[in-house]
Parts: sequence; structure tokens; C-alpha cells
Amino acid sequence: MAKRIRYILIIALTIMVCWAAYAAFFNSHNGQGKAVRGVDTASVKVSAVAGTARRTIPADAWEAPAVNTIPPGNAGEMIRYGREVLMHTAKYFGPQGSIARISNGMNCQNCHLDGGSRLFANNYAGFISGYPKISQRSGKNQPPAQRIVDCFERSLGGTSPDTTKREVKAMLAYLKWIGQGVKKDQKLFGSATERLAFMDDAADPLKGRQVFVAKCQKCHGKNGQGTLSPDKISYTYPPLWGNHSYNDGAGMYRISNLAGFVKNNMPFGATYQNPRLTDEEAWNVAAFINSQPRPHKDQHQDWQNLHTKPIDFPFGPYADNFSEKQHKYGPFAPIKAAHKHK
Ligand code: HEC
Ligand code: HEC
Repeated sequence: MAKRIRYILIIALTIMVCWAAYAAFFNSHNGQGKAVRGVDTASVKVSAVAGTARRTIPADAWEAPAVNTIPPGNAGEMIRYGREVLMHTAKYFGPQGSIARISNGMNCQNCHLDGGSRLFANNYAGFISGYPKISQRSGKNQPPAQRIVDCFERSLGGTSPDTTKREVKAMLAYLKWIGQGVKKDQKLFGSATERLAFMDDAADPLKGRQVFVAKCQKCHGKNGQGTLSPDKISYTYPPLWGNHSYNDGAGMYRISNLAGFVKNNMPFGATYQNPRLTDEEAWNVAAFINSQPRPHKDQHQDWQNLHTKPIDFPFGPYADNFSEKQHKYGPFAPIKAAHKHK
């Protein structure tokens, strides 16, 4: 009898241990989903050393409206079509595009992940509420459609789509829908990309190359060229440099944007809650990627007001005496400090 009780106890214990292991596994693999609330202190202690500790998202952070709440009828159809074009842009506007062949074959979604709904992945939450506004880059009052054109001409290394046609109107309808309820100037957790703390030293492309080889190359290719999908219409893994990548006028060409994006989203599957790179690895791999060749865009009209120019914008002139190289790779703290005293 005693033997039997011991036997049952052992089985019960085994079940409990398995359950705990399963729960821990599930918790740590909940990457793509909703915010994981509550931090597992044991895992923080271990991974904090590497700078990839788990982080939590505030309970009141913005969440995109659910796709199944897109209304029926014509208005809803425009929103859905806009979402489709933003997610599968190459199908419509890439080198094999069905509407116009005016871009490098990337999708808007490659950088605005999950239809632009994801935190710290250039989501569209605050976009529409920001208008009307004056673009700091051009110094001009721009309609929202012009911001779409900007990403076509820079991130998609292409030319402007016809903004009077259905596609651009549909994209705007989706951007309006996803930003519903957001107020002008509302502070939004997770907007744009994470602002990583500056490193003391300049970001190092050589160290970044090691990160690339170990953690990025298998998807993005030895030469950063990406991998086309079997139908050759779009990319399974988008390019990081070369002729088909974003040009040097794109937001990602600023290494703070690229490093913050990579920290929270790459290698694919990483999230704000479960980053896989240390800040240092993110800065260095960003430096490596942006030290590689890519198409050039004439930008001499941009940032006419030098005081609004981002400190990591890699082309002069500047409102200070730091070199182009330091503006591109850092160290950034001295540049930031010089601007604060003005
Ligand atoms: C498992 C495959 C995989 C790995 C590994 C990976 N990526 Fe990606 N990456 C992707 C995919 C897929 C996308 C596009 C996401 C989408 O469209 O939803 C992407 C998008 C990107 C983008 C934005 C689009 C572009 O091409 O400019 C950057 C930048 C990027 N990855 C950098 C990196 C870096 C840096 C690493 C290594 C630290 C890395 N990736 C590792 C799959 C991967
Ligand atoms: C290579 C990456 C990349 C691709 C591809 C890309 N974008 Fe962007 N986009 C960015 C970055 C980075 C920013 C923010 C930084 C900036 O303003 O320069 C941005 C900003 C935007 C904004 C402004 C968001 C806001 O809240 O103000 C809109 C709208 C936008 N992109 C639309 C698009 C559209 C439409 C496409 C496809 C035609 C596209 N983007 C493709 C990287 C990309």
C-alpha cells in the first residue's frame, strides 16, 4: 500500500514538473503575440548580462483595432485593399507589378511589420492624427499622401505612384482606420523604432559584420541581397543593401532607426518583450548594413533648417562641426550635448 502511495506521489510530481516546464516554454515562446505581462525574475538575471532581458509592455499601450472590425461595404473594401497593397506592395508596384513598375520589389510591410500594427516596428498608429503638419525634412506643409510617396521614393527606391488613383486612396483609408481614436500629439508607447541608449564609442561595422554572419545572413543572404519568393514577384527575405534595397535617403539609413528596429524585430521572431541582440550588437550590425553600397538619392533639398536635422543623418552640412563620419556612426552623446547648449 505504502509503495502504491509513493508511486502515485512520484507520478503527481512528474506531472507537476512537466507542467512547469511546459508553462515556462510557452511563456518564453509567446514572442509574436500580445504583451506578456509579469516578468520572470530568474530569466532576467541570466539574460540581463547579455542585455537581452525580457521586458514588459505597459498595460495601456496602443493596440491596433482588430482586422475583423473593418466595416462591411465600400468603405471597408477600400480599407482592406489598402491593407493588401501595404502588405504585398511588390505585387502591385514592384519590378513585376500589376499596376505600375516603379519600385525595388520590397513591401511596405517589410519595415512596417504586421500591416503596420506592431510596436517598435514603425507602426502607423500616430500617422493620420499628425496631419495637417509641416514635414521637418522638406520644411513644407505636406498632405498625408506625400508621406506615402516619400517611402516609395526612398525606402522602396522608386518613383511616386499616381496619388489620384485607387491604390494610394486605399492606403490612406487603411492608415486612417488603423489610427482611429489616436489624438494629435498623443504619446504612444512603441511608435517608430526604439531609441536605444547611445554607446560610448562609435558603432563598429567590423564587429557588426560578425553579428550579420552569425545571425542575419542565413535569411538575408551572403551579400545582403535577400531571397526572392518562388514566383519571383516579391521577397521572402528582403534585401538589406545593394541595388534593390532602400536608398541612402530612407529613414533606415539613419543607424539609430535601423538599430532600434533590429533590436526589437530581428532575427525574425525577436520582439520588444524578447529581444535577441544586445544594444551593442544592434548598433554594430546597423553600422555594418549601412556601410554597404546602396542606391543614392539626391537629398540636397532635405533638412534646409539644419537645427531640425537628425544628429545621425549621415550627410552634411550640419549646424555643428562634427564630421560626417561621426554623424553616421557616433559617438552620438557629444553631438547631442553640443545641440542642447544652444
Ligand atoms: C529567419 C529569417 C530572418 C533572420 C535570421 C533575420 N531576418 Fe531580417 N527580416 C526577415 C523577414 C522575413 C523580414 C520581412 C518581414 C515582413 O515583411 O514581415 C525581415 C526584415 C528585415 C529588415 C527590414 C527590411 C529590409 O530589408 O530592410 C531589416 C533591416 C532586417 N530584417 C535586418 C535583419 C538583421 C540585422 C538580422 C540579424 C540580426 C536579421 N534581419 C535576421 C527575416 C529574417
Ligand atoms: C526600408 C524600410 C521601409 C519600407 C520598405 C517602407 N518604410 Fe515607411 N518608414 C520607414 C521608417 C524607418 C519610417 C520612420 C522614419 C522616418 O520618418 O524617416 C517610415 C515612416 C513612414 C510613414 C510615417 C509614419 C508616421 O507615423 O509618421 C508612413 C505613412 C510610411 N512610412 C509609409 C510607407 C509606405 C506606404 C511604404 C510602402 C510604399 C513604406 N512606408 C515602406 C521605413 C520603411
